[in-house]
Amino acid sequence: MKTQVAIIGAGPAGLLLGHLLRSEGIDCVVIERQNSDHVLSRIRAGVLEQGTVGLMARLGLDDRLKAEGLPHGGFNLADGERLIRIDVEGLTGQQVMVYGQTEITRDLMDAAPARGLQVVYNALDVAVHGIESDAPWLTYRRDGAEQRIDARFIVGCDGFHGPSRKAIPTSAAREFERVYPFGWLGILADVPPCNQELIYANHERGFALASMRSETRSRYYIDVPLTERVEDWSDDRVWDELAARLGPEAAANITRGPSIEKSIAPLRSYVFEPMRHGSLLLCGDAAHIVPPTGAKGLNLAASDVHYACTALVRFFRAADNDAIAGYSAKALARVWKSERFSWSLTKLMHRFPEDGPFERAMQVAELDYIASSKAAQTAIAENYVGLPV
Ligand code: APR
Ligand code: PHB
Repeated sequence: MKTQVAIIGAGPAGLLLGHLLRSEGIDCVVIERQNSDHVLSRIRAGVLEQGTVGLMARLGLDDRLKAEGLPHGGFNLADGERLIRIDVEGLTGQQVMVYGQTEITRDLMDAAPARGLQVVYNALDVAVHGIESDAPWLTYRRDGAEQRIDARFIVGCDGFHGPSRKAIPTSAAREFERVYPFGWLGILADVPPCNQELIYANHERGFALASMRSETRSRYYIDVPLTERVEDWSDDRVWDELAARLGPEAAANITRGPSIEKSIAPLRSYVFEPMRHGSLLLCGDAAHIVPPTGAKGLNLAASDVHYACTALVRFFRAADNDAIAGYSAKALARVWKSERFSWSLTKLMHRFPEDGPFERAMQVAELDYIASSKAAQTAIAENYVGLPV
């Protein structure tokens, strides 16, 4: 098979890029290792920036997003008894959209056949070849048969563990990493949320986040040491911990119920540079990871994909190589800002095991400053709603 752009990975990044390229009349195919049910079984964060919502709207794939998404004009930082509201809408004129990122993947997946976007699932042993040439190709195995796709570009949207990043020679690359000494234990439950807006809480017992998927489905998190096992966390134990950490007002409004999902995810900050090598471009988790504090993962994948699509369109329409050459620097400029925001919100809202009284005093001082300064609140709000693309 021959195509213009071969995309590895049918997560949100790969599917969004596939749709955007198809809408510009560019030939592409998406190659995914798992089956579609497996891709949809991954539960991810639930806050979309306006730019991400805008891309879905541009594709005309935002019907469900508009019908079911919850526009939020603010969120809260809690510290013990204190609650600081960040008036995102008042400070930036924009809202975020609370909508499960898994649902974005579903919307993109469901629309693929009608839009002529070919997605090959169950593709094993995907490997990239010839990325330093103008004629790279992919190989994989499906139903026992070897397959080959020739392309002008390959885009790696294959997440943190995929093969594309590893195809870039280490001599041409640089990695930046910070692993955090805790994970987030998340639960999903069909109970009404305890608050109309999200609450990120820093409590002496640890971090907690109250989030939601709808008026009747809640998503909560607490931070736990990486040594914890999810089997040791009964639903009651999680609810007790949430009630203790979220602050008195939220605690009084928590509705408990059986969890429908419960898992522990580690936190990591990671950036791989460059995001292009020869004819291979990287987008999303293939190139970078943010801790979930601030929900930037999918939003960053969406801005990468936007830059990649713009560069590819220029290449195929106007034989403009400069846009491709500039992709990595352009994407990384925004990546690093989101990395900084996710890291700083993580530092502000978690108790690190290595921290002493000085670090805690710094957190309190920063929260005092945020509570009293419109400038500080604006800086948080404009990052939360999403920096310009
Ligand atoms: N071959 C083919 N596909 C692969 C391979 C492989 N060897 N390895 C991984 N993949 C697929 C995965 O199965 C997955 O479906 O690539 C896809 C990567 O998807 P994600 O991990 O969701 O990464 P991305 O699309 O970049 O998502 C960006 O969205 O939901 C958020 O938190 C999530 O930050 C992430 C963001
Ligand atoms: C979520 O709803 O899952 C969520 C929301 C905000 C975050 C992280 C996760 O910062």
